[in-house]
Amino acid sequence: MSLRDQSIVVGITGGIAAYKAVELLRELGRRGARIRAVMSRSATRFVGPITLTGLIGESPVVDLWDPSYKGEVHIELGEWADAMIVAPATMQFIASAAHGFADDPVLATYASMRGPRFIAPAMHTRMYERAATRRNLALLREDGVGIIGPVEGPLASGEIGLGRMSEPNEIADALERALRGTEDLRGRKILISAGPTYEDLDPVRFLGNRSTGKMGYAIASRAAKRGADVVLVSGPTTLPSPPGVETIRVRSAIEMHAAIMERREAADAIIMSAAIADYRPEAIAVHKIKKSEDLTLKLKRNPDILRELGELRGESRRPVLIGFALETRDVEASARSKLEKKRVDLIVGNEAADGFAGETNRVILVDHDSADALPLLSKADVADRILDRLLSIFER
Ligand code: CTP
Repeated sequence: MSLRDQSIVVGITGGIAAYKAVELLRELGRRGARIRAVMSRSATRFVGPITLTGLIGESPVVDLWDPSYKGEVHIELGEWADAMIVAPATMQFIASAAHGFADDPVLATYASMRGPRFIAPAMHTRMYERAATRRNLALLREDGVGIIGPVEGPLASGEIGLGRMSEPNEIADALERALRGTEDLRGRKILISAGPTYEDLDPVRFLGNRSTGKMGYAIASRAAKRGADVVLVSGPTTLPSPPGVETIRVRSAIEMHAAIMERREAADAIIMSAAIADYRPEAIAVHKIKKSEDLTLKLKRNPDILRELGELRGESRRPVLIGFALETRDVEASARSKLEKKRVDLIVGNEAADGFAGETNRVILVDHDSADALPLLSKADVADRILDRLLSIFER
């Protein structure tokens, strides 16, 4: 891993995780980056600026009014750096940055950055889950800011929860991925399915499930950003088509089956994240079904698309096949059994209880040799991890 030739400005704001910023500076240094630092006033109460000076060989900027600066130091830093990472980013910083405030050294530098900006949020779970924080993070995301973490773990309060800053090496990895230009999937054709299917009963009713499609859309969006040609076959969702992705909307499992089969041969990889109904009503009533006494529905098996793809592929290694296993228990064992049964390369197992419909996901990546349990991550981060694995399968 390398950040050689990258100039990175590290912004530190005032939370207990500021002590980990020291380790981040060392990690970035180890990877070959040129580093400068800027601190908010409250950050200096958690770590001494002298500690940073010792580490990076230059004093961090702590006061924009310091008369020893020849010009406007925040502008100069914004020009000098290839990227900025704010770690930790407090609730206060996130709110200020989202609304364009620039009244401290970190904010002013952040505001004047020419290159990409990243933040690693850190705060107590309740603060992280506040509607205000969610709104502000959504604004930053819209502005193109890279958000790294947070993760779940022990907090300063002694409780365990979501809000802990990502580990310095994870932050450095994410920066590397982002700065690599990461067109690492350029030229690869990836077919992705997402969302639920709706199996119609009559003109007004259907059998469906609670899938929102967010995970599959996140994979499509990240794959497109990483240069792949992406076709997304989506069941009914309210999500907009991700930029640069060709989205095909379908409704039922049968329609999804047809759409996937039609495009199968052109694909280098197929990622089946859709929650496809295993059954459909045997017949769709032409008119609305009227109520009477108890009603018995007769259901018919839907095709298992992934299994069929595995069979069609036979002994060949293309397309790469990745499936999901959403379970309410025994995730790893079920994922492993689906891996064998459907003859695929990787199964992403996740527990239905852990944020099925939320913004985050905790998954375990199961292949023929290993099982890699990831921490609770944003769906975009999970998407990147899955795509990292896909890349290594391509390169095998
Ligand atoms: N899948 C599929 N076609 C179906 C059902 C599922 O292609 N008719 C795919 C999903 O997109 C997912 C994987 O298969 O990638 C696992 O789906 P899941 O419903 O968990 O597995 P099943 O094979 O239905 O197993 P079971 O119902 O026994 O848990």
